[in-house]
Amino acid sequence: MRTGVIKKTAPAAALAALLAVAVMTACGPGTERKEAAVEKIVAEPVLAPTPPMGFNTWNKFGCNVDERLIRETADALVETGMRDAGYKYLVIDDCWQVSRGADGRIVADPARFPGGMKALADYVHGKGLAFGLYTDLGPRTCEGRPGSLGFEDLDAATYAEWGVDYIKVDWCNADDLDARVQYTKFHDALRRTGRPIVLSICEWGRNDPWTWARGVGELWRTTSDIGDNWESVAWIINANSRLYAAAGPGGWNDPDMLEVGNGGMTGDEYRAHFSLWAIMASPLMAGNDLRAMTDETKSILLNREVIEIDQDLLGVQGRVVIDRGYGGQVWMKPLADGSKAVAFLNMTERELDLYVRWSQIGIPAGPARVRDLWAHKDLDVHTDTGKTFGERFEVKVPAHGVVLVRIRPGQTP
Ligand code: GLA
Repeated sequence: MRTGVIKKTAPAAALAALLAVAVMTACGPGTERKEAAVEKIVAEPVLAPTPPMGFNTWNKFGCNVDERLIRETADALVETGMRDAGYKYLVIDDCWQVSRGADGRIVADPARFPGGMKALADYVHGKGLAFGLYTDLGPRTCEGRPGSLGFEDLDAATYAEWGVDYIKVDWCNADDLDARVQYTKFHDALRRTGRPIVLSICEWGRNDPWTWARGVGELWRTTSDIGDNWESVAWIINANSRLYAAAGPGGWNDPDMLEVGNGGMTGDEYRAHFSLWAIMASPLMAGNDLRAMTDETKSILLNREVIEIDQDLLGVQGRVVIDRGYGGQVWMKPLADGSKAVAFLNMTERELDLYVRWSQIGIPAGPARVRDLWAHKDLDVHTDTGKTFGERFEVKVPAHGVVLVRIRPGQTP
């Protein structure tokens, strides 16, 4: 008897599990006997056809989380327009949990979350958002709260009952475990609940998740924690840039949550941070206080033209195409409509001139439209001399800053 196997073929946007039924009929030679092998395979849902977007409590609030903050943040996601710009997951990081009950069930802090997680998830869902929580693969979280080791199925079932849509699973106190085996165990426990729950793998790149995490989780951290300073952002960009081949629809390199709006960097630095996360097709999890954003912070997090680069359906992580060696880089991300996002990144402390030739970014010779995604304007097209947009584009880039453009080949205004 032969069996038919249908591999994962879920369309990119499918959010519910698909049931594939393969029926094969095999005829034995010289006999009338017919054998029917029916195999049912539940194809994996594609939960993150584009990089997940949302908000996470950790960068700004640390352990200072409670249900009031979550409700107010849910309100702010709607009122500021962030939900409509794509920020969908509202995730409570470490410290929401305090103990396990006699039955082994994880217990939310009754003082900080008196209404319980189910009611909070209902509130978040009522705002048109999705709800996320945090746990750890080991026995304890990084902040010493109960972890999930040995409770994977019970925790997954509890999350499903509460209406959790996203779970971040950390790696503190877990170094002796086999990351691939344990995260797969968690993945399987989530799938058994029947509820689509995004798995955010957070082992800081220690076990090369980019080599095995596709199909286990929807995103995997590639570095240790981000800090609200330029050195940290520059360091993470360099580390994450090497891993572009691993990213694509369904699974994404995660260079950590955003620091935009937390006060430790200049506007240019935050624009560079956000631009590079977008060109690297990174998850965009805001990490600032959404209830009190300056206009500049809003203009960064709500820049829809930059978000479009991040969320482009081709799902390619952009990469460095020119590295000047002295801190000037040109990045390119191909987009579904045939245009290219190009970031000119200046890691140095003084203004730099950077340029790119069409041949270096796969654009055919000839005129092209160049749109500045921070100035929100189409730049002039010149086709008269060698220094033209018909061949190349050059630009002055501020210190610790970026110029981000979208180049559409073959078009004139
Ligand atoms: C680790 C993770 C962070 C955060 C903290 C919480 O450091 O990498 O993103 O979740 O734990 O304790």
